[in-house]
Amino acid sequence: MSLPIPPWRIKGVEPVPAPTSEERVSALEKAQGNLFHLPSHAVTVDLLTDSGTGAMSQSQWAALMEGDESYAGSRSFHQLEKSVREIFGFHRILPAHQGRAAEEILFGTFGRKGGVVVSNHLFDTTTAHAHHVGMETKACVVQEGLWGGNFDLGLLENQIREGNVDLLVATVTCNSTGGLPVSLKNLRAVYEIARAHHIRLWVDMARIAENSYFQWKAGEGESPLACAKATCDLMDGGWMSAKKDGLVNMGGFIALRHGEHYEELAERGILSEGFPTYGGMSGRGMASLAVGLWEAMDERYLTHRIGEVRDLHDRLAEWDVPMVSPGGHAVFVDAGAWLPHLKPTDFPGQSLALALYLVAGIRSSEIGSLLAGRDLSGEQIDAHGEYTRLAIPRRTYTAGHRYFVSEAFRILAECRESIPPILLAKESPSLRHFQSTFERFLWTPSQFAKN
Ligand code: F0G
Repeated sequence: MSLPIPPWRIKGVEPVPAPTSEERVSALEKAQGNLFHLPSHAVTVDLLTDSGTGAMSQSQWAALMEGDESYAGSRSFHQLEKSVREIFGFHRILPAHQGRAAEEILFGTFGRKGGVVVSNHLFDTTTAHAHHVGMETKACVVQEGLWGGNFDLGLLENQIREGNVDLLVATVTCNSTGGLPVSLKNLRAVYEIARAHHIRLWVDMARIAENSYFQWKAGEGESPLACAKATCDLMDGGWMSAKKDGLVNMGGFIALRHGEHYEELAERGILSEGFPTYGGMSGRGMASLAVGLWEAMDERYLTHRIGEVRDLHDRLAEWDVPMVSPGGHAVFVDAGAWLPHLKPTDFPGQSLALALYLVAGIRSSEIGSLLAGRDLSGEQIDAHGEYTRLAIPRRTYTAGHRYFVSEAFRILAECRESIPPILLAKESPSLRHFQSTFERFLWTPSQFAKN
């Protein structure tokens, strides 16, 4: 497929740093091998995350100026609630400053020690919140083919039969297993199962626009908007990290069908996030999000956006880099397969991410055993693969940047056998990819020293 023309042109630009190889080595040493600890001026192309790193449109900047900063009853809150209602069909919202804050309110309110959350796959902060309140988490994703984010329905039924399931969560798209989408057909079957067993079904909507694009293209609805609405119609409620498909740099919300449990949730939210008509967001943040939610549903925007991911995927495929089939927001390199000399306990996804940084100043992230972490009993959670994720910020990088990334992979392809295993120097107890440090990651093959 040829890449569609970007449906925007660039109005403001930001310089891209160009650290030398010596500066990269020194920055990585200071960061003790943790890419989250690098200063952004030491990064040339930042593919660490697509979360809050995109560019806003002129309409969003204009909306920002009109933001209403009233403590209570802000006009911007009502605009945001209107967008959520019209796009997703959820009638009440509680803003939160980001997705995990919404999770904190949800699990803090509904969480039950000994309860079980079953999902296709949860994002790591969701898992951490569930564990924090003493709940077990179980994933049952199929992880194969285009609809790799789908629930394995047989496994789902089995897990429900084992008992104690309080909540089902559909993560769309499924970030932890390749950013692959979930079909409407699969979600309808999950809905039937949830109804039959009287279990609540919620949706993690962080990338629901991208998921809806795939459903639309597969003929499951007449537009991405129609598919997003049909997805939410199956749900008892949802929450969103608006830093992804809200096209804003910060924000989130809980969305309720008709306002069930609103009082309880609002009470808890007031303690940590603030009064329910701002809940951790500024008026201008809510105003620009109200616009961004619509822009993310635009067919031209989504066609280009998903095309960017496919474009990077196809460029790396030229060097025979093994990857998950391209999903919504990122290219997932199968580092476990590409670096067969490394075991999962060597964290190949992290080793490759560090090598990519040393070679070209490209920052990526590990999605594998390191991120998966440990369960309530301290055992390593089985990761669904050992990936290095190249997350693509929205409306931010051009084909030129993707070419640069592809050149770095051409270099790595020539010397991947020499990429070393890394060791954990300090392991943090929860969400360990953020705080842990590493040893033995320095790898400066002579051919790169002069770059
Ligand atoms: N749910 C999903 C599916 C996510 O991908 C994330 C964040 C969250 C919830 C939490 O939202 O960051 O606003 O608190 N994912 C980012 C990422 C951090 O890089 O994939 P948050």
